[in-house]
Amino acid sequence: MPQLILSGGSPLSGRVAIEGAKNAALPACVASLLTNEPVVLGRIPDLRDVETILATIASLGKTVSRSDGVVTISHGAMLRDEAESRFVRQMRASFLVLGPLLARLGRAVVPLPGGCTIGPRPVDLHLDGLRQLGAHVERQDTAVIVTTDGLRGADVRLPYPSVGATEQLMIAATLATGETRIENAAREPEILDLASLLSGMGAQIDIDPEGIVIAGGRPLHGAHHRIIPDRIEAGTYLLAGAITGGQVTVEEVEPSHLGGFLPVLEQAGVSLDVGESRITARATARLRATRVTTAPHPGFPTDLHPPLAALLSLAPGESRIEETVFKQRFGYVDPLRRMGARIQVDDVSAVIQGVRELRGASVTAPDLRAGAALVLAGLAADGQTTLCGIEHLERGYARICAKLTALGGRVERTA
Ligand code: EPU
Repeated sequence: MPQLILSGGSPLSGRVAIEGAKNAALPACVASLLTNEPVVLGRIPDLRDVETILATIASLGKTVSRSDGVVTISHGAMLRDEAESRFVRQMRASFLVLGPLLARLGRAVVPLPGGCTIGPRPVDLHLDGLRQLGAHVERQDTAVIVTTDGLRGADVRLPYPSVGATEQLMIAATLATGETRIENAAREPEILDLASLLSGMGAQIDIDPEGIVIAGGRPLHGAHHRIIPDRIEAGTYLLAGAITGGQVTVEEVEPSHLGGFLPVLEQAGVSLDVGESRITARATARLRATRVTTAPHPGFPTDLHPPLAALLSLAPGESRIEETVFKQRFGYVDPLRRMGARIQVDDVSAVIQGVRELRGASVTAPDLRAGAALVLAGLAADGQTTLCGIEHLERGYARICAKLTALGGRVERTA
């Protein structure tokens, strides 16, 4: 299996261009199932998860072509109403195909996505919401069979602002007759990006402080859309600059999307310079212990919890990260401990006692963002780190070796 070999101790310095957001690209690809006309998506990152969603969509009948970060999804064969488990098992976002297939064909059979290492990931909110739009849901052991004699707009109040459930309902509601109001909807930038794509396809969507309102039932057409920058990739590179004592500028970003993260980075003792579409993070003489709680947007993003933990493991004093979104997102703790970090998990919080230095070790990434934490730790550690499980890392970070090397990081990928 491929590995990353990281040699720590070189401060990262320079500029890095940020890719399109994985978590905006995936629902955007799914939204193309709503129309037979071509949907052209720019700034699509070159990632395994994107390949998986495109393969899912192609298996459902779409024709997909890709060149220089632009993906064109057009009408191919008749749409199929059954998604294959080999795709949905690999990636939970594939479950989003349920909404558009149901809205267009009146029936969809989609395998249930499994749990994963960051905790249970149920789909009850997706299914309850679709029921309220007039779907009949039959849950089998490994799949759901969902049918409808026509989706109808409804008022849906989500008990939790789930990103996936909000996307599922927004996509389905565009083809439901009448108005759908989603209250307590997720507000992540990726949700707003999906709303912007759907509007470009002819949907009428309004976002107000109480929720998202979709006037459904209009025929949708093709569109050109450019995906927003990846705020999690940007945050990870800023942390990489800070943890190595260097200075990294992320370019082609939208600083307002990082509103819950940047103040925490400053509290941790990192100096920031924020421009219109770039952010520079510079390590100062001393990191500071920090307390933070993850939360839905605009709070501190759960996806930056593990990489932040790597930084705080070197901040003198006691830091605490409370995880409220994925309550088992602590897969990074054991491998970071092997590298010398002092971290205890207390219920849903990581309690971190800062150490003077981390040391290189052989570690395995259990999931994507834990993998990012271990890369940062490896870049800062004394000696060499061998990181296995990089298939997780490569789900979310395009060209990570090349980007880190260009910043002066010493990292090699074995074949
Ligand atoms: N939840 C339910 N029932 C549901 C749906 C969600 O209980 O039907 C719970 C989950 O178990 C979790 C919480 O709600 O505890 C949040 O889940 P949410 O649905 O908001 O997350 P998601 O749509 O599964 C997306 C991102 C995640 C990111 C979260 C939160 C994509 C493809 N994934 O997941 O990204 O952490 O929102 O912001 O958009 C990552 O990129 O590493 C990643 C995990």
